Amino acid sequence: MGISLVILAAGQGSRMDSDLPKVLHSLAACPLVVHAMRAGRALDPARVVVVVGHGGEQVARVVTDEDPEAIIVTQTEQLGTAHAVGQARAALEDQPGDVVVLYGDTPFIRPETLDALQTARASHDVVVLGFHAADPGRYGRLLAHGDRLERIVEFKDATEDERAITLCSSGVLCADRSTLFDLIAQVGNTNASGEYYLTDVVGLARARGLTAGVVTCNEAETLGINTRAELASAELAFQAHARTEALENGVTLQAPDTVIFAQDTYLGRDCVVEPYVVFGPDVTVESGATIRAFSHLEGAHVSRGAVVGPYARLRPGAELAEDVRVGNFVEIKNAQLGEGAKVNHLSYVGDADVGAHANLGAGTVTCNYDGVFKHRTTIGQGAFIGSSTMLVAPVTVGADALTGSGSVITRDVPDGALALGRADQVTKPGLGAKLMDRLRARKASQNKG
Ligand code: UD1
Ligand code: CA
Repeated sequence: MGISLVILAAGQGSRMDSDLPKVLHSLAACPLVVHAMRAGRALDPARVVVVVGHGGEQVARVVTDEDPEAIIVTQTEQLGTAHAVGQARAALEDQPGDVVVLYGDTPFIRPETLDALQTARASHDVVVLGFHAADPGRYGRLLAHGDRLERIVEFKDATEDERAITLCSSGVLCADRSTLFDLIAQVGNTNASGEYYLTDVVGLARARGLTAGVVTCNEAETLGINTRAELASAELAFQAHARTEALENGVTLQAPDTVIFAQDTYLGRDCVVEPYVVFGPDVTVESGATIRAFSHLEGAHVSRGAVVGPYARLRPGAELAEDVRVGNFVEIKNAQLGEGAKVNHLSYVGDADVGAHANLGAGTVTCNYDGVFKHRTTIGQGAFIGSSTMLVAPVTVGADALTGSGSVITRDVPDGALALGRADQVTKPGLGAKLMDRLRARKASQNKG
């Protein structure tokens, strides 16, 4: 018996005032719905069902990208959260065990909290995740005695007394699959919103003599995002948390408030991150590497002891082996740099394999794109690429080979060879000074006239 996950992501999110479906807005360089999926992964779900509606195709693409096995179901009309979960019934028909419902606009649920939710199922038929709200606002209220839950009342339907309750519903809940779908089938929509409320399953369960319990978590975890302002404050909260976590994990951040993390940034122990560094998605920096100021990294892997920046850009597929040096105004894309390789100044290295201890001089460019196709450049180990060499791909420079500064290399260079691909220099003795004299004389005569 496994656990199944149902993630609700059909709502329009009209308060975002956006063409993009709400759950695709990014928090820490990761769409909201993917945060929910990654949180749910802690439960090691046997099946993941995502309910889409508004912008369904777009949402489905992002979901499938993250988890090709996720099942997408469509809720054509948004009639309420119970109706939304109901759309997952067929997809889970043959799947025994529990179902956990998560909301696609609630990105911060911790794995420990989902564990606690699952554990509490040993004592209750339905378990709801609740929180004590400083300002309970429009959240649903939990009517409970201790950890025993009687009913959930939505804000719009609550009496004054019920609105005074500060124990709120996060919307996240867990129940046995067949019990949950039976209860959902009973949910009606005669309420202040005319919607099918998922939260009604608690009262319905109690009426059947089943038990319901509440597990509480920190309010910050259940933060739901409905507006751009909430998205911005959630981003702040995420960054603050990520910085603290990095510091606690043995990373030096010289100016923590200026470093931007992505949801999945991994920094090893004893990394040093200088001010104003941005980590996009999918970056791993291993122990003891240094990321110098004003660098931008995404989809990159930086090995031990490597030094990146200042002002470097690592794009997806940048693979830096140990002790690599990537210096100022250097861009690396879809390229592997072998151990100890150096690209220190003003260079573009794209679609390339660079051998260990190769040295690429200032202004080296891999000309990887012919306007239609991309081509690879291979540079052997220990090769020395002279400053301002244009490597017109596909091309290979052998191990320990040299290219002269300013060369345009269009043909392969064998191991150990010297390649010069530049026009021969012409030198005319005395002609420089003579030319300058003539120009100065012309200027003087113009000024007189
Ligand atoms: C819900 C809960 C409320 C809880 C709050 C916590 C219900 C009835 N109420 O209210 O008790 O305090 O969350 O944030 O569940 N969705 C669909 N299809 C629908 C309706 C909603 O997929 O037909 C999705 C939305 O896209 C969203 C999630 O379900 O991701 C929650 O819906 P929303 O309308 O935001 O519920 P709340 O009013 O916030
Ligand atoms: Ca909401």
